[in-house]
Amino acid sequence: MTDIAHLKTELSAEITAANDLKSLDDIRVTVLGKKGRITALMKTLGKMDPEERKTTGQALNVLKDEIADLIKSQERALKKQEMDARLTTEVADITLDTRPAPKGSIHPISQTIEELVSIFGAMGFQVAEGPDIEDDWHNFTALNFPPGHPAREMQDTFFLPTDPEESDPERAKKLLRTHTSSVQIRHMVETMKTSTPPIKTICFGRTYRSDFDMTHTPMFHQMECLYVDKGVTMAHLKGCLTDFVRAFFKLDDLPVRFRPSFFPFVEPGAEVDIGYTKDAKGGIKLGAAKDPADQKWMEILGSGMVHPNVLKNCGIDPDEYQGFAFGMGIERATMLKYGIPDLRTFFESDVRWLEHYGFDPLKRPNSAQR
Ligand code: DAH
Repeated sequence: MTDIAHLKTELSAEITAANDLKSLDDIRVTVLGKKGRITALMKTLGKMDPEERKTTGQALNVLKDEIADLIKSQERALKKQEMDARLTTEVADITLDTRPAPKGSIHPISQTIEELVSIFGAMGFQVAEGPDIEDDWHNFTALNFPPGHPAREMQDTFFLPTDPEESDPERAKKLLRTHTSSVQIRHMVETMKTSTPPIKTICFGRTYRSDFDMTHTPMFHQMECLYVDKGVTMAHLKGCLTDFVRAFFKLDDLPVRFRPSFFPFVEPGAEVDIGYTKDAKGGIKLGAAKDPADQKWMEILGSGMVHPNVLKNCGIDPDEYQGFAFGMGIERATMLKYGIPDLRTFFESDVRWLEHYGFDPLKRPNSAQR
């Protein structure tokens, strides 16, 4: 009996000292397993006399149950300990990325417009707007187009039915604007109703001409810039335009050339060319040529000093105020900057084209990125 009591104390101490499941299981095998210590004692019962066998057998059975219970409760305690440790140390990441959803893209025209807004915004220009449906006065007459100018002829301009409610024939004659220069007129007239220059605006919009081939579509986009103030000179025009084209094409040394040209609404007028070279395959590379003999030029926009007649037509005294203006085709600038070969593809609404040439809607141009 004393042996059994002694064994119980010994085993209990071993079990409670087991500090992981593996050593606890080893103890279980050495005590309760087929060759275990209690099992071995059980085997000795057969050699005992009946009286002793009865009492020892009972005592051994009690011991076996107690030890089994003790092992179980130690096992539970160790498992809980293990779980508690995992709960405090393990970090479960239960987040999951969203499934990729098809993302639209920004049309290159919209991209260019945003870039231009960003560049001119930084120079202090504000965006002005005007209607696509114009009248003859705003589109031509106020811009100093002489009567019979070829641009007024039917083959270029989309004329619309005359407005029967308009008494002034030039304002009754409706058309789709052929250029955004009409917005200059609207903005100057509007400004003079309530205030005076300075006027510093840019305008973007659709323009329409009856033309269709590789390089012309009946609808296209223009940007118009107008600056009117006291003492504005051609030097301001040159400075502003040079800065602008270099910022837009991201080429600090892009050669810029001003070539005299005629537009009825400016005097003097100039076309602006930018320099490029051709590579061996005939591809265009904007920038200065190493050898001046290789320098090529392409026209990018029309500009000039606002004609005194135009200022007068808008109620501005040309002796007091001067201005510069320029207009640019947005498609052409976009094609050049992003290497898009065919103008017509801009308006075909082909999603594959847009995926290829479009821009990330989440990465928009702003002044900080330039
Ligand atoms: N309106 C002209 C065109 O459509 C472009 C232009 C030229 C605009 C000279 C201007 C300018 O403001 O000064 O071809």
